[in-house]
Amino acid sequence: IKNMKGRDMITLLDYSVEEIEALLDYAIEIKALTKAGDCPQVLKGKSLGMMFEKKSTRTRVSFEVGMLQLGGHVVHLNPNEMQLSRGEGVKDTAATLSEYLDGIMIRANSNADVMELAKHASIPIINGLTDIYHPCQALADILTVIEVKGSVKGLKLCYVGDGNNVSHSLAAAGVAMGMEVYMACPIGYLPDEKIIAKIKEMGKESGGKVFITQDPKEAAVNADVIYTDVWTSMGFEEEAEARIGAFADYQVNKELVSYAKDDYMFMHCLPAHREEEVTAEIIDGPNSYVYHEAGNRLHAQKAVLAALL
Ligand code: CP
Ligand code: NVA
Repeated sequence: IKNMKGRDMITLLDYSVEEIEALLDYAIEIKALTKAGDCPQVLKGKSLGMMFEKKSTRTRVSFEVGMLQLGGHVVHLNPNEMQLSRGEGVKDTAATLSEYLDGIMIRANSNADVMELAKHASIPIINGLTDIYHPCQALADILTVIEVKGSVKGLKLCYVGDGNNVSHSLAAAGVAMGMEVYMACPIGYLPDEKIIAKIKEMGKESGGKVFITQDPKEAAVNADVIYTDVWTSMGFEEEAEARIGAFADYQVNKELVSYAKDDYMFMHCLPAHREEEVTAEIIDGPNSYVYHEAGNRLHAQKAVLAALL
């Protein structure tokens, strides 16, 4: 895969439509090779640092196993055990780590902090979720839709719920691949306007579109994919009660999915809260692809790692 070596992946909006397509094609290729027991050993001798300011199950394990499958290895960077926690600055930390490592995957509270790290590091910085983006999740999501539906151009993707990190990256990846993305979010929890404007720009090239509505049914009508995420993301726990009220009409349940196509896919980045954003009947039902989707984190990220490192 050409021309991506050394790049950061903080947001998919820094990548062209062509590059996102190339990453997804590469993920399909790497997945097939991995399944055949022949994952390319392109990261032999390379090390990825992994830093988590927030909890993780999927991101941590899929990045670690992904590096191992590509022939590389990971170093866990616990911020509390580093001099960072004693006041060493980002500049010295980033420059030092760049001497040892070939890349850093970071899950951070603030996207601005990740940009600061990238500014001072000479190695690729990969975003493993921030307050506004989750690009690796979105690549795995679209990879899953491609595998199930064959192609995604022109398909309708309905995102219901919080206009959060996951929704921003999902809309970016979906629009880049030519999908029609409908986001049903209550007032007060809308996606970021500036991010949506950039996604619309991207759509001019790909033919993809993004629409925002307060009506989950409008978003769900004839949808090929129905996607939701938690109502209370990490870091917003104090708002949990207010959010349960605000999102009450935004649950993915039997009624809502009845508006979608019969062969709709239900998707969720996980972790999920059954009977809040989605009923057990739907997430555990026959149209749910959530484990397939979680599994694809591994393959999508291997493509990213192989391309950037
Ligand atoms: N979907 C996702 O990023 O999961 P984790 O928080 O478990 O990494
Ligand atoms: N929006 C969720 C996603 C978790 C993977 C959060 O930020 O907590």
